[in-house]
Amino acid sequence: MLDRLLKPVHRWVWSDPNRRGRKLLRFSETEAAGGRDLARAAELTRDPSLRRLYLRHAGDEARHAVLFRLRGRALLAALPRGREALEANWLAPGERGLDDLHVAGESEGMLLAFLHLSEKAAAHRFAAYQEVLDCDPETRDVFARVLEDEAFHMSYTRKQLARIAPRQQGLRLWQGRLDRWWKAYLRLAVALASVLGGVMLAAQYFLVLPLFALLAKRALRHEGAGLRPVRAPSPLSSQY
Ligand SMILES: [Fe+2]
Ligand SMILES: [Fe+2]
Repeated sequence: MLDRLLKPVHRWVWSDPNRRGRKLLRFSETEAAGGRDLARAAELTRDPSLRRLYLRHAGDEARHAVLFRLRGRALLAALPRGREALEANWLAPGERGLDDLHVAGESEGMLLAFLHLSEKAAAHRFAAYQEVLDCDPETRDVFARVLEDEAFHMSYTRKQLARIAPRQQGLRLWQGRLDRWWKAYLRLAVALASVLGGVMLAAQYFLVLPLFALLAKRALRHEGAGLRPVRAPSPLSSQY
């Protein structure tokens, strides 16, 4: 829903080829890290069918990483060097969720709920990005290929959650949602703190610092020219 409302913003974010290339490289890192976490989950699980699914999932994420990396590099290679662009990661974050996956220590049900919610959010996001990429059909095709796998990830995690935790599936999903909202709040708080920190430092630089410069200038007017002894000479009658 939010991604639909943000469609004009997504269009702006993806309109710049430099930003597009950088974002795809960033997505590639997230997908690769997600793939490694899923390979670890496959190692840890005691359920044979989950192990098979996690391994396939890990392979998909590794392939997404390669697809995004190749397309990102091709976009950046076609550009003149030295141009910088704001990545706007908080507006178009890609497959977020896989980046905060904690495989060890999570129960099987909780991990599946978290994966399901992350994959669902990613599938909706990638669909929204795909819609605004008329200007770059090749990148749009990359998203279309990735989206097919994300739809599979979304559905298998939901079905497996229902199998592993039939009674607690709703509770696990709500726990997963609360966890994602909390992390979203923390990300927002960190971003806000960074903006406020910048504003405070700028205010200090432009408002407080000139005041001290003014006081130093005024003090300089009362200073005599040349060198002066700092202390009065010590009397010869005492040691100090
Ligand atoms: Fe992916
Ligand atoms: Fe995925």
